[in-house]
Amino acid sequence: MNNLNMLSVNEDIKDKIIFLRVDFNIPIKDGKVIDDTKIVKMKEIINKLLSKKTKIILCSHLGRPQKNGKEGLSLEQVKNKLENIFKKDIIFLNNYLNKETKDNIKKSNKQLFLLENIRYYKEEENNDPMFAKQLAGLADIYINEAFSCSHRAHASVTGITKFIKSYAGETIISELNSLEKIFNKSNKPVTCIIGGSKISTKIDLISNLIKKVDFMIIGGAMANNFIKYNNFEIGKSLFEPHKEETIKEIFSAANKNNCKLIIPEDVVVSANENIAGKNKSLSEIESSDIIFDIGTNTIKNISEIINSSKTLLWNGPLGFFEKDFFANGSNEVAKLIKINTQKKLLTSIAGGGDTAAAIKKAKAEDGFSYISTAGGAFLEWLEGKILPGLKVLEK
Ligand code: 3PG
Repeated sequence: MNNLNMLSVNEDIKDKIIFLRVDFNIPIKDGKVIDDTKIVKMKEIINKLLSKKTKIILCSHLGRPQKNGKEGLSLEQVKNKLENIFKKDIIFLNNYLNKETKDNIKKSNKQLFLLENIRYYKEEENNDPMFAKQLAGLADIYINEAFSCSHRAHASVTGITKFIKSYAGETIISELNSLEKIFNKSNKPVTCIIGGSKISTKIDLISNLIKKVDFMIIGGAMANNFIKYNNFEIGKSLFEPHKEETIKEIFSAANKNNCKLIIPEDVVVSANENIAGKNKSLSEIESSDIIFDIGTNTIKNISEIINSSKTLLWNGPLGFFEKDFFANGSNEVAKLIKINTQKKLLTSIAGGGDTAAAIKKAKAEDGFSYISTAGGAFLEWLEGKILPGLKVLEK
């Protein structure tokens, strides 16, 4: 169980201004929110705080403006969505780092305020103490409701807590409790499915989990590295160069720890993402092919493993699921996990934005024991790392 500071139910917060760190880093296309899962998840908690007659400053980042530029990354695009969900007017604050902001919020007859993308300031990612102090000066208390951002030692996640009474929010506590309960219980056999495109982002996770799980299934573009390592053609498929040593270490760690490593034995290939794919065994792959999904024999093999498992952890889609042609692997796996979880044969956890989206597409989101919308934070938690945003909230 965690030992984080939480706001007591009896604490009088009437008229207090709450700086609420949320994660509204959500997909937006042509100015429209495409997936509002992360906002909807906050609905109950924000309404609860509002019912206590508080004022709430919503603070989030959107994308990586310092690296990619500000275009398309204003949080003003989220304002309408928030107003529809909360049925309240929202004051959007563009320039808020001044002494008047707090007074203006106090005087306002509105309750909800949304800050512009906090990462527009380079001081956010630099965790600049002066900036953190200015942020703290806007409010009376700070609550972190963004588990998914708690792996970032940024000003609005860690720095700010030095200057203001700070608490872990209810969604963080419930996320941690669910993860700890499921992960620490882990009835055997335990299976881990890792997909996605880059092995380098998941190497620590794989290395840590290989010691703990019975089956490690590798899918997604990451599997191409393993297929290539085993001397098969991967054509024009995505892969990460210079990872042979890493793959060798993974094979040897799996061997040493009695963990069965499963890589695809067949795949779905196509000439490009807009043409339906063809199932091929690894030896049939040609130099013009692009691998977009796992094949039918691989799905069958994975299904047998899922049927024999009691605990399952999934991070990373198994194919290019955004395209219907190549969603079969992720769909079939998600559906089977749902069935087994609902029959109480399996405890299942999934994490990461893409994985959550693949599960949603397979209409299986009601069939997992727990789905975390956190990406990097979920991975770092699984790797056994201490999340800086949680560390600063310890009692
Ligand atoms: C996420 O979407 O996982 C969080 O918002 C963290 O985003 P980041 O990787 O840009 O810090």
